[in-house]
Amino acid sequence: MTDPADPADPADGAVSPLGPDVLITVCPDGPLLVRGPAGLVDGDGTDLRGERGTTIALCRCGRTAIAPFCDGTHKKRGGRG
Ligand code: FES
Repeated sequence: MTDPADPADPADGAVSPLGPDVLITVCPDGPLLVRGPAGLVDGDGTDLRGERGTTIALCRCGRTAIAPFCDGTHKKRGGRG
């Protein structure tokens, strides 16, 4: 019996558990860009994605005024996203 593919290791040839149409990009000093038909809910299960398009930017720096989405504030002060 072989070990299952590691979905966290792209070199393993595994398919993301999010599906082949979802891509998450970690932007240097910026947000996480989520491209594709991924859902987004808060802790209560409320849909946060709403009418947003196929790409959403999730804040990593904690300085946004529209959490959990990036509003570009990370660019003003620099530093890690
Ligand atoms: S990553 Fe853009 S405002 Fe936080």
